[in-house]
Amino acid sequence: MPSGTSAAVPFFDWKALYAERADQYAQIFRDTAAGGGFILQAAVEEFEAALADYCGVRHAIGLSDCTNAMMLGLRADGLRPGDEVILPGHAFIAAAQAIHFAGGIAVPVELSEADWLVDPDAIRAAITPSTRAIMPVHVNGRVCAMDAIMEIAQDHGLAVYEDAAQALGARFGGRRAGTFGWWGAFSFYPSKTLGCFGDAGALVTDDDDLAETVRAMRNHGAGPDKAISRDVAVWGTNARMDNLHAAILLQKIGWYDDAIARRREVAGRYHEAFSAIDALDLPPAPETSGPGFDIFQNYELCCDARDALRDHLAARAVGTIVQWGGNGLHRFEGLGFSQSLPRTDRFFARSLLLPMNHLLRDEQVAAVIEGVRSFFP
Ligand SMILES: Cc1ncc(COP(=O)(O)O)c(C=O)c1O
Repeated sequence: MPSGTSAAVPFFDWKALYAERADQYAQIFRDTAAGGGFILQAAVEEFEAALADYCGVRHAIGLSDCTNAMMLGLRADGLRPGDEVILPGHAFIAAAQAIHFAGGIAVPVELSEADWLVDPDAIRAAITPSTRAIMPVHVNGRVCAMDAIMEIAQDHGLAVYEDAAQALGARFGGRRAGTFGWWGAFSFYPSKTLGCFGDAGALVTDDDDLAETVRAMRNHGAGPDKAISRDVAVWGTNARMDNLHAAILLQKIGWYDDAIARRREVAGRYHEAFSAIDALDLPPAPETSGPGFDIFQNYELCCDARDALRDHLAARAVGTIVQWGGNGLHRFEGLGFSQSLPRTDRFFARSLLLPMNHLLRDEQVAAVIEGVRSFFP
C-alpha cells in the first residue's frame, strides 16, 4: 500500500508517473533506442497482441492517439458525408471531431441522471432517416448502458462505435468496454489509466476486414508488408503508434489490473466517507449490484456549491478539475452545435473531479476526504 509523508494532493502528479518505476522505464528507452527499431517494429505487434488478449478481441491496432483511432475507424467502416452519428453531450470534443473529419455529423444528446452517461431514451428520440451510428462514450471509466444501446442499434439497423478512451478494462455485464460494437477506441495519453509518456491510442475490433483497412490507413495505405507500392488502394495517413510507446505500454499492461484495483480501493474510501453527506451526489460505489465494473479513470461527484468546494479544497492544497472546462461538447456553438441539453448543462455546472489515480498515497486520500468533509458543517 502506498505510503509517505506529504499530504498535499496535486490533482495529478505527472512526475510520479516516471518515478514509479524509473529504472525499468529508462532501460526500455535505452533498449529501444539502441536496438534501432522505432516504427512498426516488434514492440508494436507485441503490445497489439497483449491488448487484444486483454480485451478478448481478435484485433488491436496501435495508433498515434484515440482521436485518430476513432476517425480512422469511422472512415474504414464507410461513414458517408451527411451520415449522422448520435453521441452524448457529456463527452470530450474529440469524438465529435473524429465524426466531423470522417465526413459525418455529430448529434449530441442528453445524459441519464441514473449513471451520468448517455441516455438510451435520448438516443432513440434523436434517430432520423440520416442516422447511421451510435457512439457511446464511457466517461470516467464507467460503461454506458450497453444492453439498451445495442438493442436500439439492432432495432434501427445502426452501427455502434465506442469511445472507450477512458475505459480500458471497464466492464458491463461481464463484457469489456470497447468490445460491444463494430470497434472501440482507447487513449494512452499519460494521465489515462494505462498511460505512456506521450500520445498513443488503439482501436480494437473482431472484424478482420475493418482491422486490415485501419492497419493500412494508419500507414499511408500500405499493405501488410508495410511497403508503399502502386498497389496502394486505400487513402491513408500517418497515425502509427511509436515503438517506444508500445514498449512502455507492453510492460505497463502487465501491471494494469493492479492499478485498477488501487483506483477502485480509493473510490471505495471516497464513497464510504462521502455517502453520509446529503449535499453530494456520488458515482456508483465500486462494489455495486449493478452490471458495471468501473475502473475509475476519474472520480467525479456533483454538488450545488461546486465552485466553493473547489476553492475550499485548493486552500488545503487539494487539486481538483472541472472536466472539459465545465462544457459539454454541444456547447461548442462555434462548431455549429445548437442542441439544448439542460440535464447535461446542469451536470457540468455541478461536477468536480477529485484526485484519482493508482499512485495516490493513503495519507493523500485521507487529506482529500478530510478536505471535503470539512467543507460541510
Ligand atoms: C472521452 C475521451 N475521448 C477521446 C479522447 C481523446 O484521446 P487522445 O488524446 O488519445 O486523442 C479523450 C482524451 O482525453 C477522452 O477523455
